[in-house]
Amino acid sequence: MNIATSDKPFAGKTAFTQSCGLGTEPVPLAPYRSAEFFERERARVFERAWLLVGREEEIAAYGDYFVAELLPGGVSTVLNRGKDGKVRAFYNTCSHRGSQVVDGPTGNARRIVCPYHNWTYAADGELLSIPDESSFFAVDRKRCGLTPMAVDTWEGWIFVNLQAEPEVGLRAFLGDFADRLAGVPYVAADKPIVLKADLDANWKVVQDAFIESYHIPAIHKRTIAETFSSNENRFARLLDARVFGPHRTVSMYGNPKMPLDPANKVEMLAYASGDTGSLIAAGTSTQMDSFLQHPAVNPTGVDCWSMDVNNLFPNTQIDFGPGGFWVHQFWPLTPNTSRYEVRFYVPDALNARQRLQQELYVARVIEVVLEDLANVARTQRGIDSSGKDHMQLQDSEVGIRHSVEQLLKWVDADSVAEALL
Ligand code: FES
Ligand SMILES: [Fe+2]
Repeated sequence: MNIATSDKPFAGKTAFTQSCGLGTEPVPLAPYRSAEFFERERARVFERAWLLVGREEEIAAYGDYFVAELLPGGVSTVLNRGKDGKVRAFYNTCSHRGSQVVDGPTGNARRIVCPYHNWTYAADGELLSIPDESSFFAVDRKRCGLTPMAVDTWEGWIFVNLQAEPEVGLRAFLGDFADRLAGVPYVAADKPIVLKADLDANWKVVQDAFIESYHIPAIHKRTIAETFSSNENRFARLLDARVFGPHRTVSMYGNPKMPLDPANKVEMLAYASGDTGSLIAAGTSTQMDSFLQHPAVNPTGVDCWSMDVNNLFPNTQIDFGPGGFWVHQFWPLTPNTSRYEVRFYVPDALNARQRLQQELYVARVIEVVLEDLANVARTQRGIDSSGKDHMQLQDSEVGIRHSVEQLLKWVDADSVAEALL
């Protein structure tokens, strides 16, 4: 059962770990370094869960496509929209000799022509033509279309599943989380600013860095420490934490009296109106009105709010802030390396000051993200040394505890239905 914080959230200790139904014992580090666990995680989590790959707005028109790399399998996937308006997913593999048929990352192709020998496919994957077909030996064109991958959409988000016939549909996989986030308006979702980095850390080390606020006063002391903590909440304790099956959400504190530095002329100009009350803002509160009024955005409805992290199992975080949303993804490469991707969605600026505010927003968030990323290799090296077998987690790290609990459950479960029980 989930319980919201009391009226005086920082007067005493929070108890989210208990209210989320989790234990309080130390949490094992083996999943963060074991090669054996890595293989099981690949097979039982990444090859069975629905994986978010993008938004429908990115492929709005017939023939639009983007390529997603599903790791750790290294599976390249083409997502496109057909003549019939349907979103489809295909393995990016030619039926002739296996070349990738699309180089990516994005484009429009009503016919997909393999670059190697020009085999040509329709947007729905059907094989249309084979150059010099009469020199082949009874190729059955009907059986040589692109190989489809399971795909489904929810609230504009596109998901794929590496199971040919997914054991559980997307809606069942999302469970109550789908109800909670139903109807959130995603403003400017067609214009992501994407950043990618390959990192020397297990994907969970990186994901964990973005779902706890305890590190903020230490790691971010030069950037957002005064935005996310204050004298009232010195250790940046969480405002709220809830779990929904394998998924979870946490809400972070924001200092409503966050001081602007008068020496920082750009910041002063960008935020002179104080419109959004936070540096983590791409839009004005007028632009964001309907977004901010959704019950899943700032769910405790307090002024001292900075952001929500909606962590879709296993590896996606959709974050909500006063000025919009952004998405982090964490893809395994090896037991101690991973690929990180972040997408910022920025609405059209209404005036010059908002443009400046947005530039500052993106630059500031990247600056903060770089502080987090600079720390992950150090964390992984410490974990890899085997000096410790467990980590000690406090209440604001409840999202990490839930993540490990769920991953252990999925790698042990013989079916997805059992993992979701
Ligand atoms: S591999 Fe695609 S046409 Fe030959
Ligand atoms: Fe951070």
